[in-house]
Formats: sequence, C-alpha cells, structure tokens
Amino acid sequence: MSDFTYSNVTFFSGEKVPLEMHKARMVQRIHLLPIEERFTVINQSGNNTFLLPNRSVFLDMLTDSGVNAMSEAQYAAMLMADDSYAGSETFYRLEKTVQDFFGLTYFLPAHQGRACENIIARSFVKPGDFVITNYHFTTTKAHITLNGGQVLEAVNDKATLPLSDDPFKGDFEIEKLTSQIDKVGGEKVAFVRIEAGTNLIGGQPVSLANMRKVSQVCRQKGIILIFDASLLADNLYFIKVREKECQDKSLAFLVREMASLMDVIYFSGRKLGCARGGGIATSNRELYLKMRDFVPLFEGFLTYGGMSVREMEAMSVGIKETLDFHTISQTPLFVEALGLELVKNKVPVVTPFGGLGCHVDALRFIEHVPQRQYPSASLAAAIYLISGVRGMERGTLSEARNPDGSEHLSSMELVRLAVPKRVFTLSQLKYVGDRLGWLYENRSLIGGLQFVEEPSTLRFFLGRLAPIGDWQGKLKAKFLEDMPSGL
Ligand SMILES: Cc1ncc(COP(=O)(O)O)c(C=O)c1O
Repeated sequence: MSDFTYSNVTFFSGEKVPLEMHKARMVQRIHLLPIEERFTVINQSGNNTFLLPNRSVFLDMLTDSGVNAMSEAQYAAMLMADDSYAGSETFYRLEKTVQDFFGLTYFLPAHQGRACENIIARSFVKPGDFVITNYHFTTTKAHITLNGGQVLEAVNDKATLPLSDDPFKGDFEIEKLTSQIDKVGGEKVAFVRIEAGTNLIGGQPVSLANMRKVSQVCRQKGIILIFDASLLADNLYFIKVREKECQDKSLAFLVREMASLMDVIYFSGRKLGCARGGGIATSNRELYLKMRDFVPLFEGFLTYGGMSVREMEAMSVGIKETLDFHTISQTPLFVEALGLELVKNKVPVVTPFGGLGCHVDALRFIEHVPQRQYPSASLAAAIYLISGVRGMERGTLSEARNPDGSEHLSSMELVRLAVPKRVFTLSQLKYVGDRLGWLYENRSLIGGLQFVEEPSTLRFFLGRLAPIGDWQGKLKAKFLEDMPSGL
C-alpha cells in the first residue's frame, strides 16, 4: 500500500480536512466544569496547569507524553506479555524491534526518556564539559548540569522567531556548531545532541541533510553524536513531506539512514511508540558498556529497565507502527488544522506549524505582561479558566534561574496545546479555536503571575503561583457576560 493513499483523498468542496484513517472503538467521558468552578480549581492548583486534577480538565492538551491513543494491535500485544525479572521473552521482542527499527546492535531499556538522559549524562558528562545541542530540552539540560556540564545551543537565531517559513527550524547552524567546538575545545565537548522535533521551539523538525552535516562534523572531530528520538515520529513525517530527496524513500529507509549517522540514540517511549517507557540504542560496544551498568542501578534489571512488560509489548508494536504513514501523519495534520483555526481567530501562533502541538505565542498575545511576570504561565492559566483546556507553559517559567539567582528570560514565550495522536476530534479543535479567539479579544484583561512556592529544580513541574491583582476575577466576569451559562 502506498504511503500517500491518505493525502490522495481530496474534498470536492476544496476544503482541506485531515481525514482520519482509523475509527474510535473505545472512548473516555470528559467533563466541562463551569467557569466558577474552574476559577476555584486553577487557584487551588497554584495557577500551574501541571497541578490541575484531570477530573477538572475538559481537553487535556498538556502533553502527548504517555497519552496518545493506542492501536488495537498494541492492546492485543499487552495480553501476550511474559512477566519475568530476567530473560523475559517480552524484552527480547522489544530488543529485536528496536534493533530492526534503527539498524543498531545494542538496546538498553529505561523507564522513560529522562531516565535515559540520566544514564547518558552520568556516562559521558564530567564537570567543566559542554554539550552542544540544536535546542535544549528541560530534563536533558537538568541532567547535564547536575553532572557539572553546560549546554550550548546551535540553532540559527531565526529558529526562535515565532513567524517563519523555514521548514526545518530545528536545524543546526553548522558554522555555529563548529565555532562553538573550536572555542571550548573538542576534548571538552562531552557530546553533540540532536533533538528530533525540537520541543521547546514549537515541535520543529531537523532535516536529514542537516543531520548528515552534523554527523560529518562530529566524526571529523571525534565527538560522540547523540540523537534524542523522542519526537522522531513527527520529524519523520516532516522529512518525508518537506525534504525533496526523501519523498520517494520509505519510512523504514529514512529511520535507518538517520540512525546510521548517530553514535547513540535514546527515546521516550511515552512519545515514540505510544506506550510508557524508554530506551537507548547503539552499535558501539564501548559506549554501550559505559552506560550498561547504570541500568540495573537506577532502572531495574537489564531485561525490563523499570518498565512493565505490558507496556514493553505495547511499545514494541507502537515503534513498528511509526513506519505507517497514516499513524505518523495524524498529529501534524491535526496540529495544522488547529493552527489554521487559531489563525482564523487572530490568535498569534508559531509557524510553520510543527509536530507535537500548536504553540501560542504569549509575547504577541499579551504584549503588556512582562517576561518577569511569566506571560506563558499567565496565558496557560487564563486558557484553562475560560475553556477548561489544559495547555503547558513553555517559556521563562520552564527555564532554571541563572547561578546568581536572576531570571533566565526564555527566547520564546509559548503555551503549547499538545495534540496527542488520535485523541481529539475536529469539533473539539474548533472549540479550542473559538475560546482562544474570545480570549484574544479580551486579552487586555490578562495579567501576570508571581511565585508563591518556587522549587529549586525543574520549577515548572511543581511551582505554585498567584495572580498579580484580580485579573482572573475580571476575566471571569467578562466571560459570564458573553457566555451566561458559564460553559
Ligand atoms: C524531546 C524530549 N526529550 C526527552 C523527553 C523526556 O521524556 P520523558 O517525559 O519520557 O521523561 C521529552 C519529554 O517530553 C522530550 O520531549
């Protein structure tokens, strides 16, 4: 069957509709609380969407991590799991899937993506080292700095401009990469890290051509190249549809081609494989042995790595399904549909639309809220208040403070509205577009937030904040004027 059967379906009306090639056979009831209750809940949750109980959330667009809809084949595989501490058949099946998928020799299981980052950082980062990446990710950076390293970024300066028509904003600027290596000295670079589907700048892909160039630099300079493949599915879709030389190549070929450029690959199986787990793959025995002994220490024995065997079976099937074009196209096409809906309602968003979710530009949405008052967090709280939609702050609050305690202002202030695979319907996306359109019209009412409790690490997960002034009360009153049912 051709990879492109889906996009050959055109609507007679000319309308662009992301037609699903699957049907829902199991559903979950969700609830939309009235605004009075949402007002109470968001304040009880410290104005942090991570702290909202899911029972109070209408559309959970916090993340795609561990919440994608699984296929019937994944559920079926879970029933065949071999539960044993050592030598489980389930592990061998997953190991073979990962080996075949990437074309690499060794596989180490871990309970999720950041567990892989812990193992990698402990194995390769020494105090005073540098890691150069296209753009950092929160947990990756935390593990590198915990081990005494520093993170440098090498995306083009334009990659953090919200509006762009660059199809591969996640690409490294090669001159920046080489000059950073030369400046700190190659022996001080613990590794170079390519993040597929660059999360914090809006789910933006990296081209295969760019991966080749980065790999060439690393091989010339003898530096380890590590690939974070957590968001590989979206990146693979964009390579296939946006990169000319890849259009006639199979998805399986493209994955192996990418993998052949890397020394180590790791992934969050909560994203890649649509289950709950993670793992590290390499063909380099020396690197494998450096990492291996951390698995039983932190994760669990080498044949389960902290994962339940049922999740491992589901992940194994999910990874194979990444080679199905319908499966990987669903999120990018729904992100695009949501993006177009938001643009229609004048909401400022990051372009081009990427994978993972739609990214609302808080700096343009609420220009009057200074970065020190966490505009992305304020906007995320306001979105929940007026719609019951839970997004995620991706801005200054997600950054760690500088060593002297001052704020590290983020280069982008985004609210991510994640679009987990096969979970939401078009009418739900239209609801999001409509409510954010209303909020944009009433944006002058939104104010800032300040910390009430600020954790010392990864503060965005558990930090509690309070509104500066009564802007939420005013927003609620205006909403009730326009939507008297409160829904
Ligand atoms: C690019 C990237 N790397 C690593 C991780 C960490 O994975 P996990 O949440 O499974 O620990 C994530 C999670 O969002 C991610 O997006």
